[in-house]
Amino acid sequence: MSNAIIELLNQHRTQRNFTDQSVSDATLAQIITSAQQAPTSQYLQAYSLIEVTNPHVRQQLATITTRSTVATQGRLLVVLADQQRNVQLAATPAAKRALTELDRFMGSVEDATLMTEAMVMVTESLGLGSVVLGSINNDTQAVIDLLQLPALTLPVFGFQIGYPATQPEKKPRLGLDAILFKDHYAQPASYQAELTKFDQTLHAYYEHRSSGAREEHLAEMTRAALGTAAKRRDFLKIAQRQGFLPEIGD
Ligand SMILES: Cc1cc2nc3c(=O)[nH]c(=O)nc-3n(C[C@H](O)[C@H](O)[C@H](O)COP(=O)(O)O)c2cc1C
Repeated sequence: MSNAIIELLNQHRTQRNFTDQSVSDATLAQIITSAQQAPTSQYLQAYSLIEVTNPHVRQQLATITTRSTVATQGRLLVVLADQQRNVQLAATPAAKRALTELDRFMGSVEDATLMTEAMVMVTESLGLGSVVLGSINNDTQAVIDLLQLPALTLPVFGFQIGYPATQPEKKPRLGLDAILFKDHYAQPASYQAELTKFDQTLHAYYEHRSSGAREEHLAEMTRAALGTAAKRRDFLKIAQRQGFLPEIGD
């Protein structure tokens, strides 16, 4: 079974290197407005975007995300979780408080996340590529300061868009036996076999890929991914400084 959307998803690759071809304002607007049709929790549209054009700020974001191309290539957005707008609209103390608590904090991060994935797909449908940059939160406070973010906003992702300069190989994904359970959380008999199979697929992908080939296994890769946690331990405190999660400490 296939159609244009399935084919698009099947061809997804994150792009991290972009050509000099500029992304027009009309294209950027199309990507954003189409992606805004993503589902949004309680219809609150609790996100906003900042396009970063200042070369000095882009350079600083390149340093924070450890990606030099962020400084110069393509167009760069920062996607924010944003309850600032809704707090202004709701305007009663009870509503204001509810918008800052965990439930709506999560709602704003969920909205920002779904919006971002929708931008990934629209971008690719137009022949462009993108990279989602969670690494913007390697230094959340610096991003807040650089972008002058008000209370009840937080950076969720950087999002860089451009015309792909390379064609990375497609990264494999786990099979259904590892991620789809029936009725309750019960790993099927084939679960371990699927993990072993995926480990082999992953190993072959990293061994043979044209750029950055290396020896890689699933368990080690999972452990290595946790390195970012150390950089982000202050995230809770920063979220609270931004006015979120007042119930912690109540
Ligand atoms: C929440 C999130 C954060 C990410 N952050 C980064 C990042 O900071 N830097 C980066 O180069 N890629 C980042 N990525 C891209 C992932 O590395 C990429 O999606 C993953 O390796 C799978 O590769 P693929 O998208 O090409 O299939 C992020 C992706 C997600 C979903």
